[in-house]
Amino acid sequence: MSTQTNHEQAAGPDAAPSTGIQDIAFATGHYSFDLKNLAEKHEIDVNKFYVGIGQETMSIPAEDEDIVTMGAAAAQRIIERNGTDGIRTLLFATESGIDQSKSAGVYVHGLLNLPREIRTIETKMACYGGIGALQMALGIVARNPEEKVLVITSDVARYDVDTSGEPTQGAAAVAFLVQASPDILAIEPAQGVYTTDVQDFWRPNFRNTALVDGKFSVGAYMDALVGAWHDYRAHGGVDFREIDWFCYHQPFTKMAVKAHMRLTKEAGVPLEKPEAAAALEPTFGYNKQLGNSYTASIFLGFLALLDSQKDLEGQRVGFFSYGSGAVAEFFTGVILPGYRQHLRAEEHQAILDAREPIGYDRYRVLHPGTLVQPTDNYRTERQTQAPFRFEGVDEGSRLYR
Ligand code: CAA
Repeated sequence: MSTQTNHEQAAGPDAAPSTGIQDIAFATGHYSFDLKNLAEKHEIDVNKFYVGIGQETMSIPAEDEDIVTMGAAAAQRIIERNGTDGIRTLLFATESGIDQSKSAGVYVHGLLNLPREIRTIETKMACYGGIGALQMALGIVARNPEEKVLVITSDVARYDVDTSGEPTQGAAAVAFLVQASPDILAIEPAQGVYTTDVQDFWRPNFRNTALVDGKFSVGAYMDALVGAWHDYRAHGGVDFREIDWFCYHQPFTKMAVKAHMRLTKEAGVPLEKPEAAAALEPTFGYNKQLGNSYTASIFLGFLALLDSQKDLEGQRVGFFSYGSGAVAEFFTGVILPGYRQHLRAEEHQAILDAREPIGYDRYRVLHPGTLVQPTDNYRTERQTQAPFRFEGVDEGSRLYR
């Protein structure tokens, strides 16, 4: 980790305005499930989860919650503070889509009563979809700096019960506003990108749960990190020592520690496990409690950093996004002087505290099983206290309120 310094944004009379994140907030599911319940059920040491994979609890959505209700709740917080002026694009990134055709973002658009003069699209590339949406948003704003883009990342991570992926489930949404001259984060132009066709994690249309080759996926993540890092350096990216903090995609927080050890080795400044873990710890707070949230996970790492550190002004953050299958990207941003006025640490803590803890039997009732059931008509029970709920399905149409 470098000595933290103030990284001035390149600026001059002709410099283009910076683009980046103006405001950012999260939402999650109604229930929380402590992994000690899973350890007890499987008669294994809970430290395999708490220490071995670095996860403590996972969020479980109520029967009347899904990616739309969580995404709308997160986006509502952004709209409350910033209004809708200038928003002409809504990008909804997810790996757990609820329709093969219609963007989940259009349901959110309706729930939030957004203006009609907005284009709304869903993006998909596993956990990378959120960073893909961010990069599209930056392009739209660069072309017309008057415009703003509302990005929503929302996912429910589900694996089959009694598999090694089971303790790495979770659910959350992060919404953020991308605009010119932002207050929180100015995103720098250098990008390192990487695509390779690997079958490490996937979810066929007929399944609720993902299929994964767990150990192979860890290796695929590492290969993509190395590839994206070298591409970043080859395309004008700064030296490793110029980056103050690192936010990784965190399918489980220990994955980020393994990745950081690998990256520091690749960059010629190798860290042992305790040092790598200490360097990343400020980015772990939310993901340890929420579990994997696929597209939202990297942004929850960033939110944990913002909410846990006293003064980040002028510091550079490196972001690594990995989407199985696989697409990856490394890029950086610099934290701006106005960022503190947008912090929501207390709001975020309240969201975590409001979750209702459940035990193993309830968790199993809420788990939908492997296969998607063909149900054209049903109603859900009222469970969630969130501002929006999924009411059920009517002749194949999803109903939200
Ligand atoms: N106390 C402390 N640590 C313990 C322990 C104990 N009692 N018992 C075991 N451990 C440690 C192990 O030593 C091991 O540590 P290391 O990784 O440092 O060696 C760790 O706990 C995990 O244990 P296992 O090696 O036995 O691994 P597992 O069989 O539980 O599987 C996994 C781990 C493969 C990650 C599995 O959780 C999985 O398949 N997860 C889903 C896939 C995934 O998240 N992949 C990540 C890359 S893909 C991606 O990033 C996209 C995405 O979001 C899915």
